[in-house]
Amino acid sequence: MMELDYWVQPGTDDWAQYQPKITEIHHKLMNKEDAYTGWVDWPQRIDPDVVQDILHTAKDIRQKCTALVVIGIGGSYLGAKACIELLQSPFYNEYYAQQTGHPRIYFAGHHLSTIYYYELLERLANEEICLCVISKSGTTLEPSIAFEMLRGYLRERYGMEEAAKRIYAITDASKGALRAEADEQGYKTFVVPDDIGGRYSVLTPVGLLPIAVAGIDIQAMLNGAAMACKEYDNEDLTKNVCYQYGLLRYVLQQQGKIVEIFEVYEGRLRYFTEWLKQLFGESECKDGKGVIPMSLQMSTDLHSMGQFLQEGRQIFFETTLTVEHIRRDVSLEHSQFAGNVKTMHMLNLIVEDSARKAHMKNNTPNIRLTVADLSARSFGYMVYFFEKACAVSCYLTGVNPFDQPGVEDYKSNIKAALRSE
Ligand code: PA5
Repeated sequence: MMELDYWVQPGTDDWAQYQPKITEIHHKLMNKEDAYTGWVDWPQRIDPDVVQDILHTAKDIRQKCTALVVIGIGGSYLGAKACIELLQSPFYNEYYAQQTGHPRIYFAGHHLSTIYYYELLERLANEEICLCVISKSGTTLEPSIAFEMLRGYLRERYGMEEAAKRIYAITDASKGALRAEADEQGYKTFVVPDDIGGRYSVLTPVGLLPIAVAGIDIQAMLNGAAMACKEYDNEDLTKNVCYQYGLLRYVLQQQGKIVEIFEVYEGRLRYFTEWLKQLFGESECKDGKGVIPMSLQMSTDLHSMGQFLQEGRQIFFETTLTVEHIRRDVSLEHSQFAGNVKTMHMLNLIVEDSARKAHMKNNTPNIRLTVADLSARSFGYMVYFFEKACAVSCYLTGVNPFDQPGVEDYKSNIKAALRSE
């Protein structure tokens, strides 16, 4: 279901040379030898009762409110945001939510923009509200601040008891301040599995609850991920495009290509590339190693970064994520510019191809990953594909894909700074 095409220097794809190393990594991953590898078989072992509970809770949230505020940062919000942007109407909050009886969805806790919060509170004044607060540690500053503020607002509007019924917490099973509060106040809770880290958690309740509230078929998503899980449980590099992509990234890195530019021509994939940036950036860029993930949305960025892609320093490779079928394509039959091209999506593919050909004049390595369509099943499939490819790249690079010491450093600096204030 994921097609891989690539244009690289001869020898970059010497599968036979790397097969022994890939075999070793395959077994290490599938045997879950490292901590935080629970995601490897998660789509096949997620408890169906938890999925049912998520679906019931999503229904309950839909009945209770007209606006759900999802509070989280990093792995605790990017997956849900990426999925909702990818699969829901681009006019979801403005129009579609109300038409279909779904709550509008707002995100909070991923920054400290005072203007944003000021206006969010104004925006919420005319809505019935629920909060979904997500933090594995339960102690991260930005979501904790946003939660305290919004919880206060909720209590003022609804009183303590009703406010507690409108708060849904997704956190560790036993540790952290959020767990303690949720237990004390009786919030409905879901657990972030112990063996799955933040950026690998979108297929757990962390992503599934907000995604289900938005009316997206989470069972189809899990089925797609389970399909990828089965398909890529194959150590044979010649047959495993997920491992091929992971390996190409590594070999390109060895050739001095230290930046990977994720490019999308379908705007609805924009937040998916934000999720990719976190996945690869936090997993791979450590110990002075790794490929820096960047992202561009085309055609927009062809008119800003296109010059760099064409003639800039040759430290990068391009990875285009493209979609084969688009369900609601717009006809161009009356366009004088489009020639014989009949639809907007077809035109987009032509622009993509033309840009690739132009950039390759400079011998820029180019990778294209094609997904069948934009569906819940394909979203789940892509998530698993990239998680596994990322882990393989990291192991080849010689770094631990599942820790984030840099992020933890900044978090402890904040705690120290706040203690001294
Ligand atoms: O991938 C990660 O582990 C991090 O990006 C976390 O998701 C992020 O720091 C948020 O952490 P928490 O869920 O503990 O608030």
